[in-house]
Amino acid sequence: MMAQQPLFPTPAKVQNGKGSFVIGKNLQVQGNGGYADKLAAALPAELKEAGLQSSPASGTIRLELTNDCKMADEAYTLVVEPNSILLQASSEAGLFYAKEALLQLSRFGKGNVRACKIQDQPRYGWRGFMLDESRHFFGKEKVKQYLDIMASLRLNVFHWHLTDEPGWRIEIKRYPKLTTEGAVGNWHDPKAPATFYTQEEIKEIVAYAADRHIMVVPEFDMPGHATAVCRSYPEISGGGEGKWQHFTFHPCKEETFEFISNVLDEIVALFPSPYIHIGGDEVHYGNQSWFTDPEIQQFIKDKNLGNETGLEQYFIRRAADLVAAKGKKMIGWDEIIEGGLSPTATVMWWRSWVKDAPQKTTQQGNPIIFSPNSQFYLDYQQDKNSVRNIYDLDLTIEGATPEQQGLIKGVQGNIWCEWIPSRERMQYMAIPRLLAIAELGWSQASQKDWNTFAQRLANQFERLNIMGINYRIPDLEGFHRNNAFIGE
Ligand code: ACM
Repeated sequence: MMAQQPLFPTPAKVQNGKGSFVIGKNLQVQGNGGYADKLAAALPAELKEAGLQSSPASGTIRLELTNDCKMADEAYTLVVEPNSILLQASSEAGLFYAKEALLQLSRFGKGNVRACKIQDQPRYGWRGFMLDESRHFFGKEKVKQYLDIMASLRLNVFHWHLTDEPGWRIEIKRYPKLTTEGAVGNWHDPKAPATFYTQEEIKEIVAYAADRHIMVVPEFDMPGHATAVCRSYPEISGGGEGKWQHFTFHPCKEETFEFISNVLDEIVALFPSPYIHIGGDEVHYGNQSWFTDPEIQQFIKDKNLGNETGLEQYFIRRAADLVAAKGKKMIGWDEIIEGGLSPTATVMWWRSWVKDAPQKTTQQGNPIIFSPNSQFYLDYQQDKNSVRNIYDLDLTIEGATPEQQGLIKGVQGNIWCEWIPSRERMQYMAIPRLLAIAELGWSQASQKDWNTFAQRLANQFERLNIMGINYRIPDLEGFHRNNAFIGE
């Protein structure tokens, strides 16, 4: 059997050729203008880092952004022959992925790239990773390293969970107490010095991500998980009890919605993404005061909301209207389904136990992103089945029409950081599960084969070592056959 190309995630189509291209000193790299030239100019240094050989070989690498053969968004072709390599795509993202694919192959071959023809395109347009920096703050260098990992796996959405109970992590100029007070503390230490991103740092990270074709989607969680805000501005707190003090926004004060609108104005200016995530999850943890506060109870009656659940749905509708008024589309955790979805809302399905969430979402004609917690929560304990449980996830919605099935935007892994205080721990928990998520999001369903995938995955560890990434060595059948631990 012909050895497989080590490309990861698995490309849609590979034909192996004869011979190989040697990345040598006299290499020529050309683009066909614009973005292709920009990638071409950076490529020699990137290849050098990936293992440029000292041989004098002098082939040509050409990058072309072209509509001659119109390719799907993010699709690319990569043709490697002994004297030339041609990368083609109709979108900048596609050409970028072609370049990433070439880098991967060069790294594996230590400068020798076997002849082949690759035609590749993703299964889904949303291949996401969510990082929680409220519970623990990591800072921009660690985030950039994650963005590098994401790019190398062709993950294209970074969902940034910046607001929650222990800390508010984004500078909002109109409300300075959000960072002087709200950014103080983390999950382990409520008095830890304030940590947050300035607006300049946010812009820097958004630009760094955009260079890697990663969209950054900010989450501003409401009406629950608002503790850090309500600590800073108690006049808009909706109460809460015990360990959930100040957990919700005040649900019926106009001041609350003015505050949210003003904060959204600054968020919208920082993030070019068409989406804003407004959370919407787990409001019941800390909405006890909604049941007892006479003003809130009167509001429920006056507005005919029925009960506290009706009030929560009212809040989400107001939030949806605000997001729409800013020209953005709303994403919310799957609790938002219960109040009826606004036509432009996208649902992020996290509660595995709410099995009909995909049906309910798509029957209303709304898009959905799959991140069911039992497989996709990367902070959950790992065992020998974790990777396989992700890989085997069937992304078909029972009883759905093809149009409804087409409303699945993609998949996303989430890492909640209550118990994850360090980069090493974060990487250990996320990887290799994140690789299985990348595979699920990119590779065609018809290519699924666990044994081949497990072998491909085992091949990735050398690459992760080169990138200096900490990971959990999974309990893979066959791993011991091509990896030995030599203690250095
Ligand atoms: C969530 O895990 N509360 C979305």
